[in-house]
Amino acid sequence: MKNRYLIGVAFLAIMILGAWSCFQTAQGTPVQKAVTADEQTLNRNRADSLLKLMTLAEKLGQLQQLDGGISKNELPKLIEQGKVGSVLNEVDPERVTMYQKIALEKSRLGIPLLIGRDVIHGYRTVFPIPLAQSASWNLDLVEEGSRISAVEASAKGVNWTFAPMIDITRDPRWGRVAESPGEDTHLTCEMGSAMIRGLQGNGNYQDGNIAACAKHFAAYGITVGGRDYTGANMGERQLRDVYLRPFKAAVDSDAMSFMSGFNEVNDIPASGSEWLLKEVLREEWEYQGMLLSDWTSITEMIDHGYCKDKKEAAFKAMRAGVDMEMVSTSYNEYLEELIKEGKIDIKQVDTAVRRILIMKFRLGLFENPYPVLSNDKTILSKEHLEAAKQAAIESAVLIKNDKNALPLSDKINSVAVIGPMADAPHDQLGTWSFDGKKADSQTYLNAIRNDFPENVTVNYAPGLKISRTIKKDGFNEAINAAKKSDVILFFAGEEAILSGEAHCRAHLDLPGAQEELLDELVKTGKPIVMIVVAGRPLVLTDLLPKVDALLYAWQGGTMAGPAISDLLLGKANPSGKLPITFLRAVGQIPMFHSHKNTGRPANENEWTQMYEIPEEAWQTSLGNRSHYLDEGYVPLFPFGYGLSYTNFKYGKIKIDKNKITPTDTFTAQVEVTNTGKTEGKEVVQMYIRDLFGSVTRPVKELKGFQKISLKPGETKTVKFEVSRETLNFWNADMDFTVEPGKFKLWIGGHSATKEFVEFEII
Ligand code: BGC
Repeated sequence: MKNRYLIGVAFLAIMILGAWSCFQTAQGTPVQKAVTADEQTLNRNRADSLLKLMTLAEKLGQLQQLDGGISKNELPKLIEQGKVGSVLNEVDPERVTMYQKIALEKSRLGIPLLIGRDVIHGYRTVFPIPLAQSASWNLDLVEEGSRISAVEASAKGVNWTFAPMIDITRDPRWGRVAESPGEDTHLTCEMGSAMIRGLQGNGNYQDGNIAACAKHFAAYGITVGGRDYTGANMGERQLRDVYLRPFKAAVDSDAMSFMSGFNEVNDIPASGSEWLLKEVLREEWEYQGMLLSDWTSITEMIDHGYCKDKKEAAFKAMRAGVDMEMVSTSYNEYLEELIKEGKIDIKQVDTAVRRILIMKFRLGLFENPYPVLSNDKTILSKEHLEAAKQAAIESAVLIKNDKNALPLSDKINSVAVIGPMADAPHDQLGTWSFDGKKADSQTYLNAIRNDFPENVTVNYAPGLKISRTIKKDGFNEAINAAKKSDVILFFAGEEAILSGEAHCRAHLDLPGAQEELLDELVKTGKPIVMIVVAGRPLVLTDLLPKVDALLYAWQGGTMAGPAISDLLLGKANPSGKLPITFLRAVGQIPMFHSHKNTGRPANENEWTQMYEIPEEAWQTSLGNRSHYLDEGYVPLFPFGYGLSYTNFKYGKIKIDKNKITPTDTFTAQVEVTNTGKTEGKEVVQMYIRDLFGSVTRPVKELKGFQKISLKPGETKTVKFEVSRETLNFWNADMDFTVEPGKFKLWIGGHSATKEFVEFEII
């Protein structure tokens, strides 16, 4: 009786507080991206009122996330008993409605569920893979793509997604490079924040916004040998300077949740690391959001050799501050015991539950957790498809374009469409396309057939059924198609299954017999335009000389076909730039633009090709420099590289002060002119090097970029503000600071740009 009375009183309080918050919105409180201090207090108070009523079992229930796919019969009962805080991978709106109804109306305290799903690069309208989106360097487009993904997902009842993935990686063998924003810290910070803005919007689920989850905290992208689930061993300075910054940016962008990684960080699994989760995330960054484990990453600490059993895994994860457990059940099995034994303080559990409840309050789930059915009509809408097409257009990187092979001349009468990726509706969707449907995909072949002028004959013969196959029975047909066409469009690459989680490769060439097919096509003497459809950077060194033009299309999603067809025809102009260095050979891994100089940097004069070395040359006669005898010291294409159908000329870089104090701000600017005949977009990039200091610094670091559009003949002045924030780094004393000294500053169209100015901090 007493209990019921308490519930009644608390609910009255919650409702009054809730009504007050609705009233605020109705009164026209401006829509905020980040939660205001008032809302924060309100949500906290609501969570605290509820927490007071919860039994330990109910609290532990909130800490549990279960997979919707594995326990369809069990799940409703568990929800009713208050033993589930979240369900992932349930996107049937009727089932979600049923689960939420049970949670709200039948469970004792009526706490709604978080419904999680990997909406990583689109829901039903699939956008280019994240690495490709990063290649667009267009933050507005990326934000828009995430907004659309949220709106579509909300229609099915999904209120939380496990994105953005902001793991920097410098190893293209790693399958998850497809999901990563690439090799660079600054670009990753910006990409992650844009995604969070797009997904979360004003934070209210019924408005079509869903909670973001910054993952995988942290340093999951530092793999051993490019294999998944391995560890990161790295000094704290570099860890912070390179790999943790995007997560700090996610905190600043108010990401509602974080996910702890599978990997270890300096010999401690991330999901049990007190340093990472407690000291850095909670104490130093004061992160208030909720922290979820990755899929069974708590119990995998046993396999890592960090915990002797499930109980110890539960203990170490809770001690480090993981709030919710994905799929494994160690918290539910052992936390009660650990509390009784005095090893875990109930206050720790309360803190975790509070964060989960606050997230549910923030999303407005207590008011209405049901699928936002009105958003159903937006799925695959014209607006969404158009945005996906634009994202695919801006993601494509023009790598080579000899003698203006592209755009295709209007004089051609026939094209041969060849290659296993030309009509691969499933594979163009990329790795995380759980909810995409291949039937929705507009393939390259379809688009060419639909969009190319009527007088152009399309001779289609894939040559190979899939990217991995070595069966060459389609070769003859492909060669014949090539022979009777003016131009060959060769769609090569990788199927979706060859990248993504646990899908790593030791070789980075075209799989299967694709290169052999290309060799046969070369023999026809016809011009070849190669379009690479892949989930990672492949090594193109041997392929490039064989083709006239190469367009790197990545896996471009639902609208990849029309996007590429527009680029081939010149209806759109390529504007993507590489978000990761393209290598000459797998053996160069890891090679990236922001490397250190060494005491013996390589140079042109002291590098001898291996075959030119005289017999029995004296060991030191070649000059001892930091390079490969067989592959030199530069990559195939630098970070930030990408061509356009027009040309951009950069003027002299100007800075308004070249001697500044550490707290000063100055402007660096440059004039960029479109000197060609076509309108185009250019990504203007600023790089900085700190020449000396208490610790060595990278030879170049991206510190700013702007994507601008220029008409033929047009000039724009692009300005970058340089401040303490631009230059901060972790110095020898582990202070995040700026040190006096000399700096170089480059502005150009890629990371190997040579024009620079110098400035000094005094
Ligand atoms: C992945 C996460 C993902 C989770 C849920 C894990 O295997 O590492 O990135 O969010 O599964 O599907």
